Amino acid sequence: MKSNTKTTNYIIDASKPNFNIPPTIYCISPSLQDCKNSFIYGEVHPPDIVSCIQDNFLLSSFLDIGCGRGELLFYMYQKFPDILLDGIEIDPDRTNVAICEATFQEYNDRIHISSGDFRSIYLGNFDFIYCCNTVFTKNDNNDLYKKLLKEFTGICILFEYNKLLRPYLVSSDTVRTSWSNCVPIFLFQI
Ligand SMILES: C[S@@+](CC[C@H](N)C(=O)[O-])C[C@H]1O[C@@H](n2cnc3c(N)ncnc32)[C@H](O)[C@@H]1O
Repeated sequence: MKSNTKTTNYIIDASKPNFNIPPTIYCISPSLQDCKNSFIYGEVHPPDIVSCIQDNFLLSSFLDIGCGRGELLFYMYQKFPDILLDGIEIDPDRTNVAICEATFQEYNDRIHISSGDFRSIYLGNFDFIYCCNTVFTKNDNNDLYKKLLKEFTGICILFEYNKLLRPYLVSSDTVRTSWSNCVPIFLFQI
């Protein structure tokens, strides 16, 4: 017998992000205006990266390449009480926002954020590297992959990769970001 109770079907649009970043927060530093193509901004939903790490790995030193305004680092600071967290960010305005916030929150005992291109730092000092490299140019990404293979040993999360890193791929997952609710990420053991 059919029930008279009405049921409502909620359809969730998985393509729409459930958090947004006001464009004013993410304007490009005037010194980088010519590099627009490689500096489209967006952020990951930090809990998704943390749960991916928590479920699978023990780590002691973490680097966010292109850390933006530091939101992922700040979230990780609270979730992982023992690890050292580094970020490097090429946009000086964004780096300043991140450094000021880290200072204000008194996170500087374990968070270190520097301004610059990832090419300027040695990757071998970290055991976990994260990079939301969808916004990087092909040249940026090729340099990143080569640098990882030359200097780094550990676990790495990337949003894009090519055949250089294929032998090191261990798994993939999806995360929410400010531009889509379902973005693939790839985990490598190098
Ligand atoms: C999509 S955002 C990621 C922000 C944050 N890491 C996250 O996942 O939520 C990418 C960042 O990489 C930075 N970036 C782009 N090229 C870079 C480079 N060569 N070296 C360092 N940072 C870079 C951009 O300025 C931008 O803030």
